[in-house]
Amino acid sequence: MYSSIWTVLAILALSASLIFNPADQPLLSSVGFSLIAYLVTYNLIPALGPAFIKVGFSGRDLSKKDRPEIPETMGAVCAIVYLFCMFLFIPFVFYQYLAKTIGGGVVVGYDSLSEGLVKGRILSAFPHEKLAEYLSAILCLQSMFILGVADDLFDIRWRNKFFLPAIAAIPLLIVYYVDFGITAVMVPVVLRPYFGDIVDLGALYYMYMAAVAIFCPNSINIYAGVNGLEVGQSVMIGVCILLNDFIYLVQPNHPAEESHLFSVYLLLPFLAVSIALLRHNWCPAKCFVGDTYCYFAGMVFAVVGILGHFSKTLLLFFVPQIFNFLYSVPQLFKIVDCPRHRLPKFNPETGLLEPSRTYFDKKKPGKLGQIMIYVLEKLHLLKVWRDEKGVVISISNMTLINLVLVYVGPLREDHLAAVLLGIQFASGLAAIALRHSVAAMIFGRDNI
Ligand code: UD1
Ligand code: MG
Repeated sequence: MYSSIWTVLAILALSASLIFNPADQPLLSSVGFSLIAYLVTYNLIPALGPAFIKVGFSGRDLSKKDRPEIPETMGAVCAIVYLFCMFLFIPFVFYQYLAKTIGGGVVVGYDSLSEGLVKGRILSAFPHEKLAEYLSAILCLQSMFILGVADDLFDIRWRNKFFLPAIAAIPLLIVYYVDFGITAVMVPVVLRPYFGDIVDLGALYYMYMAAVAIFCPNSINIYAGVNGLEVGQSVMIGVCILLNDFIYLVQPNHPAEESHLFSVYLLLPFLAVSIALLRHNWCPAKCFVGDTYCYFAGMVFAVVGILGHFSKTLLLFFVPQIFNFLYSVPQLFKIVDCPRHRLPKFNPETGLLEPSRTYFDKKKPGKLGQIMIYVLEKLHLLKVWRDEKGVVISISNMTLINLVLVYVGPLREDHLAAVLLGIQFASGLAAIALRHSVAAMIFGRDNI
């Protein structure tokens, strides 16, 4: 599955004209870089597959009859192409400022720092804080990428790796502190008589942002196990954030324009490399994305939300992931037994996926686990199998994927992926509508 020579030439020509557009518009350059990123990723993945298998980056597709071995960790290709793309984009995004500061001795102007007419490079005209934001984003994503590869190599225990994204996010939080520093949140209108219009959360706000950086990568990684789901959900979330960005960008001179442009610059190449990966990972998958991709994708969203100053809105786009995480808590915290894999069970006779189960023949759940199973069953959120005496022998694994199968019945793998991605996109659109309607009512105004 490679692009034809004509597609390559057409994309290269179009990209070149966009990157070097005469209006020096960074947005157009970003689209140009993204097209090249797509082309490179799409062709590199099949080319590098055999080399990945050779060094042990491979996995068995558990939902196929013959369980074929295919390359894993292909998210590494995406991450590297993405990072290169972000490096090459730096001169273009800062071009207008570089033009002002370039060529010592040529520019004459007023320098606010020295408060006088100066001859030479007006370095204070350069937005160093913007470059710091940009570089901290890259540093954070690079650290996350390294961590992801380490996990794919050594299968690190999740309780050991869970908090590491917060460490990767430190450069980001420091830049947020010196550059933006707002830790106050608006109080809903009904609570204002008690708390005032805004509440300053101080250090708590930084802890909240660190929690976002931990949650986004991990929540994508545990909402997985169906061909196309890890990348597909990331593409859906990315598209929804992009739509939300454009709501701000279409309004001339909006105060939040810069932060939403920043979000677009980070998201366009991300979507490009992800769509290229999705085409190879869609059922029947030719490769797996690996934990590398899940961590990288989650961190892209955390970076975009934190530096774009919309980390609370960001979580609205993670509703299926939040549900899947909360629903998984009994198994994640071992209150109820958790098998290594909770992905749906493939039935070789029908070729369909069915809910996978946890059996209690060896290890019975404790009192708390039994209560949780009882409550979830009463809420119609769990399928429970009992023996003739009414003793629980097994339950459907606690993931949104299995829950959909419990409700809809057995499904083909690609149909299941399509249903789950449909849920993701619909909830993302609802989040946008909610953000700009109900939120405006609750908080008295919309900040568009
Ligand atoms: C997470 C889930 C686990 C799920 C796994 C699937 C939790 C706590 N962990 O674990 O339940 O089974 O993701 O990715 O919820 N695979 C397929 N088809 C796919 C994707 C993956 O068969 O479409 C299998 C392959 O054998 C692949 C392996 O899953 O090698 C990858 O699993 P890995 O990403 O290492 O699992 P975790 O992220 O630890
Ligand atoms: Mg994984």
